[in-house]
Amino acid sequence: MKEQKATNVTWHEHKVTREEREQLLKQKGVILWFTGLSGCGKSTVANEVATKLHKMGRLTYVLDGDNIRHGLNKDLGFSPEDRDENIRRISEVACLFADSGVIAITAFISPYRKLRNFCRELAGKGNFIEIYTKASLETCEKRDPKGLYKKAREGIIKNLTGIDAPYEEPENPELVVDTDKYNVEESADIVIKKLKEGEYI
Ligand code: ADX
Repeated sequence: MKEQKATNVTWHEHKVTREEREQLLKQKGVILWFTGLSGCGKSTVANEVATKLHKMGRLTYVLDGDNIRHGLNKDLGFSPEDRDENIRRISEVACLFADSGVIAITAFISPYRKLRNFCRELAGKGNFIEIYTKASLETCEKRDPKGLYKKAREGIIKNLTGIDAPYEEPENPELVVDTDKYNVEESADIVIKKLKEGEYI
């Protein structure tokens, strides 16, 4: 984790509060944190949730691994240290989105429990919904939408999560969405039901 180098900085309380922004948007800001293996359906389900919520008049924003690694995190690779830094930055960004009143939807493998819990703590109680997007390695490898598992088996790429890098399963996620069992539409509906039950929307 990066050390704090910024000194002599002062936190300013802003005049428009989170509650006021949430009233304006008629929703509660929250982070929907999708985690799971590559090919488990994180981004697909995250995008379906965003599409459905948008049609319902809710403000969302999707942050996903492949996209963020083209910009903000393009200096990071897939070593444990870089993955930690990847998730640390995303956690900070996602918290800002949630604080703005937006339903922030993140789709990162986020293989380490410690860093997922870092975001949970940072977001604060009720502001973080961990969604374990679950599919067996066998299924993910069969889908292999980016051809990464094939490359890993051939030794062309290293440190692929599930093959030669670890994935630590969530212990107490708010939701488990089993994409071996449910299709994209059903999976998205499970998430939206959770948001309604929690009165986020
Ligand atoms: S994380 O582990 O740091 O959370 P993140 O979700 O940002 O990963 O990025 C994962 C994406 O990067 C995958 O969907 C895949 O397209 C790509 N990728 C490239 N190399 C690897 C690798 N060795 N392990 C995992 N994903 C990889």
